[in-house]
Amino acid sequence: MVGSIKKNEFKYESEKLAMMYYRVAIILLGAQLLMGMIIAIQFLYPAFLFEIFDFSVARMVHINALVVWMLFAMIGSVYLLLPSETGIETVAVGVGKLLFWVFTAAITVVVLVYIFVQVGAGTEASIWLIHEGREYIEAPRWADIGIVVVVLGFIYNVYATAIKGRRTGIITVMMANLLALAGLYLAGMFFTTNITVDQFWWWWVIHLWVEATWEVYVATVAAWSLIQILGAKRQIVEMWLWIEVAMLFGSGILGMGHHYFWIGTPEYWWEIGALFSALEPVPLVAMLVHVIYDWGKEAGRQGGKAHMTNTPAFVWIVANAFGNFLGAGVWGFFHTLPQVNIYTHGTQFTSSHGHLAFWGAYATILIGMFYMGLQRAYGVKTMKATFNFKMAVWLLNGGMLGMTVALLISGYGQVLVERAQFGATWEGFFISQNAIWFVQGMGWRLAMGAVMLVGFIFLIIDLLTIGKNAKLSETVAKA
Ligand code: HEM
Ligand code: HEM
Ligand SMILES: [Fe+2]
Repeated sequence: MVGSIKKNEFKYESEKLAMMYYRVAIILLGAQLLMGMIIAIQFLYPAFLFEIFDFSVARMVHINALVVWMLFAMIGSVYLLLPSETGIETVAVGVGKLLFWVFTAAITVVVLVYIFVQVGAGTEASIWLIHEGREYIEAPRWADIGIVVVVLGFIYNVYATAIKGRRTGIITVMMANLLALAGLYLAGMFFTTNITVDQFWWWWVIHLWVEATWEVYVATVAAWSLIQILGAKRQIVEMWLWIEVAMLFGSGILGMGHHYFWIGTPEYWWEIGALFSALEPVPLVAMLVHVIYDWGKEAGRQGGKAHMTNTPAFVWIVANAFGNFLGAGVWGFFHTLPQVNIYTHGTQFTSSHGHLAFWGAYATILIGMFYMGLQRAYGVKTMKATFNFKMAVWLLNGGMLGMTVALLISGYGQVLVERAQFGATWEGFFISQNAIWFVQGMGWRLAMGAVMLVGFIFLIIDLLTIGKNAKLSETVAKA
């Protein structure tokens, strides 16, 4: 019986390429969590791995692994939905595969250099060969150029396929957005000796990725998935998609001002940043409404029971709607006004927001996409929730929420002791680092990280088994 299950039921090679990207993404997610545990331990026991694998290096690997696994999962998801939307095979799928191997090899070299070489003298050579020292996008310049080549090949594939095949609203938004997403990377590739100017451009990558182009990306992927999973009406999801594009770019571009408060840019950024970044949660609420609305409408149409072809993916998409709203919208809004930010800037409060936002807005839906890929890989009609899936959902999301609250408490400790009481002095910093609220929050963060790690193990087990089991039960049902 098991022998009759074909492992590979892809209709298109492009879908197979998507799974290749997903596999690397999941390995990097695991690496990210392990690095997170190391730095969380170092917060409590500073001597841990001291001068062997320092905090600065482990932290860099933690957040670079984050960015890279998300980029891999994003590229993978485009290759997954491209044939289904355009109705044809990706035109240069062979080139796509070659670029995948180039990309993976380059990332492996970069990570090995991070881990084994770690730091250099801070010269032109170390910028080219070790890392650039720019948070989140530290990749050395040779890798920057490599990434640009790989992404150009990827974008060619998307454009050529879309031009040859059917061009839906989802694909049109995807085409425009990918160009913006890739173009912004260039803003992080050159150097200026003025640190204010340098930070100014660095934010063009970071902020305009996470608060504009990545959000639009997620909206396109969610729109496609909802059509696949619920049979949602294309006109409805595409209408919301266009509204969100307009709102996200509107609020996101000027909302960037909330990073210009204290870096030496002109003071008019206080007003611009405050106003437009405070508007940013509006499209995030719209997105939440979007998913729930489609869901309810579909359920109504189907007599109270929505037809659902992929429960695990759907649950992660719902987690995404809530997580995006909470992590980016609510947690972001908390500290986005300069009057508040002057106290919270760069505290664990920021880390609390950073974790919940990245998790809620991106990790969740990309994990959902892994399940969309598996469904196609095994050619199953419906994917149902399994025990391992449920454990993964509860432990990963519960762990992340717990971690966020722990960081919030530590952050409040810093705001009150270090900033309010001691007026942001050097002495105040050290007093607050040793205060009981701060230290206990750090302890709970570590504990919640361990919960996430257990959840991750359930996720891996589920991803490795769910497709085969679903196929097996469908084959049995047919026989
Ligand atoms: C999914 C979307 C978002 C993600 C992934 C995200 C992530 C992050 C991260 C990682 C940081 C820390 C950056 C650093 O290392 O300095 C940050 C900072 C910040 N974010 Fe977000 N964010 C998102 C959306 C938002 C929104 C919608 C708002 C406002 C409503 C917001 C407000 C802020 C502010 C004010 C800071 C600066 C904190 C400080 O001064 O220390 N974010 N964000
Ligand atoms: C095992 C779970 C995890 C642990 C223990 C952990 C721990 C940490 C620690 C200790 C830092 C350094 C904070 C600092 O410099 O003060 C950090 C930074 C960061 N982590 Fe994690 N992390 C975990 C999972 C994640 C996940 C799943 C994500 C995203 C989906 C994430 C995103 C980030 C980001 C964006 C930063 C930079 C935050 C900032 O600059 O404000 N982490 N993490
Ligand atoms: Fe921002």
